[in-house]
Amino acid sequence: MRKPLIVGNWKMNKTASEAAAFIRDLRERVPASPHADVVLAPPFTALESARSALGSSSWISLGAQNVHWEPQGAFTGEVSAPMLRDLGCRYVIVGHSERRTLFGERDEHVQKKVRAALKHGLSPILCVGESLADREAGRTESVVTAQLNGSLTGLSAHDLATITIAYEPVWAIGTGRSATVEQAAIVHRSIRLFVETGWNSDIASAMRILYGGSVTPQNIASLLACDAIDGALVGGACLNLDSFATIISFAQIPRA
Ligand code: 13P
Repeated sequence: MRKPLIVGNWKMNKTASEAAAFIRDLRERVPASPHADVVLAPPFTALESARSALGSSSWISLGAQNVHWEPQGAFTGEVSAPMLRDLGCRYVIVGHSERRTLFGERDEHVQKKVRAALKHGLSPILCVGESLADREAGRTESVVTAQLNGSLTGLSAHDLATITIAYEPVWAIGTGRSATVEQAAIVHRSIRLFVETGWNSDIASAMRILYGGSVTPQNIASLLACDAIDGALVGGACLNLDSFATIISFAQIPRA
């Protein structure tokens, strides 16, 4: 049984002091639980204050929203994997659709980021997902498979064991229009099959595949009730204490 993972992606929201206050409130509000893992991904500027608000033995792990593939150098405005590790990050989101569509990130960049993260001890959360035009043209599976191929080719089974995949249909992000559980489950199953075919069934069955796109306190329970869905990558709803606490609480209910 895979343990649910809830990842809160704050995107470009919350200052360092707002981050610290939110985390202190969240820790008071939600008790630790062995039944779910939680990752919070603040903007780079809030990582340090988030780390101190989380404390050294927190049940909430720290993640970053992006990483450059080089460890250091003349890359103005970029942040490297060793820098993120040094700030206490354990995870990093790579290939988010906003990076792909707004900042021109392609699979070749995503692949380099995944490799850099793995090399420096960060667990990548690899985002894949189709646009509305792709879905309407019946290209969902081929687009997702191409993204997986472009980002994961050549990695070892050991590498794959450290990766989480997040299926985020672009049309569901920030729109209030979540994929249905059935739509998500179909893609999740094809992702798991891709991993099984490319590596092996042990890696595939252990891998956590998250759903992202308009996840809310209202739909989290039905998403998590599906055995193909191992958690959520949450955007808008993780900015609000009540809604994020509720989402985490649902994930903490032991799964049958
Ligand atoms: P929303 O939950 O706001 O749709 O965002 C999802 C997302 O992009 C998380 O990475």
